[in-house]
Amino acid sequence: MSLETTIMSERVLIVGGSSGMGLALAEHMLMAGAEVTVVGRSEDRLSAARQRLPHPERLRAIAADITREDDVERLFQTIGTLDHIVSTAADIAGVYVLLPDMDISIARRVMDSKLIGPLLLAKHGARHLASGGSITLTSGIAAYRPAPKGSVVAAVNGALASLAFALAVELAPIRVNVVSPGWVDTPIWDAVAGSGKAAALDAMAKRLPVGRIGQAADVAQAIASLMHNGFITGTVLHVDGGQRLV
Ligand SMILES: NC(=O)c1ccc[n+]([C@@H]2O[C@H](COP(=O)([O-])OP(=O)(O)OC[C@H]3O[C@@H](n4cnc5c(N)ncnc54)[C@H](OP(=O)(O)O)[C@@H]3O)[C@@H](O)[C@H]2O)c1
Repeated sequence: MSLETTIMSERVLIVGGSSGMGLALAEHMLMAGAEVTVVGRSEDRLSAARQRLPHPERLRAIAADITREDDVERLFQTIGTLDHIVSTAADIAGVYVLLPDMDISIARRVMDSKLIGPLLLAKHGARHLASGGSITLTSGIAAYRPAPKGSVVAAVNGALASLAFALAVELAPIRVNVVSPGWVDTPIWDAVAGSGKAAALDAMAKRLPVGRIGQAADVAQAIASLMHNGFITGTVLHVDGGQRLV
């Protein structure tokens, strides 16, 4: 069977599919012929994604909060069998502060959205995955190039790699991988940098070996490769334009 034929019959769950990298992956997979379910908490963001994405006949949008186990159980009961589960979810607003200013409830919210949520997706989703299925999680450059104010995000991103290694063993033959983006121009930057977003991204673009900032489609393509290469499991794929080197 060709890769195109395989993708055409695939059912893919994308948590975080209403924005940024998840939205770009949803578009990529819908264009390739897959059946896609996008998940996020905000109905407004989901309906905006619906307006923007192609092939509505193969697209489902479901509101769920993956930090809530009852939401995750309900999600998988609604969806049924899947080929791939992807999480690009993150709720990181307010977490980039020095330790004396840190509100631990915000740190817990970040850990819940990026680490506990994916753990719940694996716990309840693994048995819904068809043979040859995969789980792909999203970490990030903060684990590899830490900076002041970034301790919580660095810790969560580092933990995601270890979680994927462990799940790749425990859930085998399901493959479990992590994509680790560098700085990518998505709506998350509005929450992180506000009006300083363009200046921050421009400055980083000048430093990077590739000479530009990442786009959501760069990461979407990388996630699709992890989903479809049957010999990759327990791997962190860096999609950072060389940011770990500068
Ligand atoms: N952009 C970058 O420069 C960058 C760099 C390194 C790593 N990353 C990582 O890459 C991933 C994707 O980032 P992005 O830039 O695409 O972010 P984004 O545009 O903000 O999208 C995040 C998505 O996650 C959903 N989400 C957040 N919390 C959720 C929850 N508890 N349950 C369900 N859905 C939830 C959001 O929808 P709702 O808010 O409606 O729930 C949204 O669809 C994240 O893990 C981020 O930390 C990003």
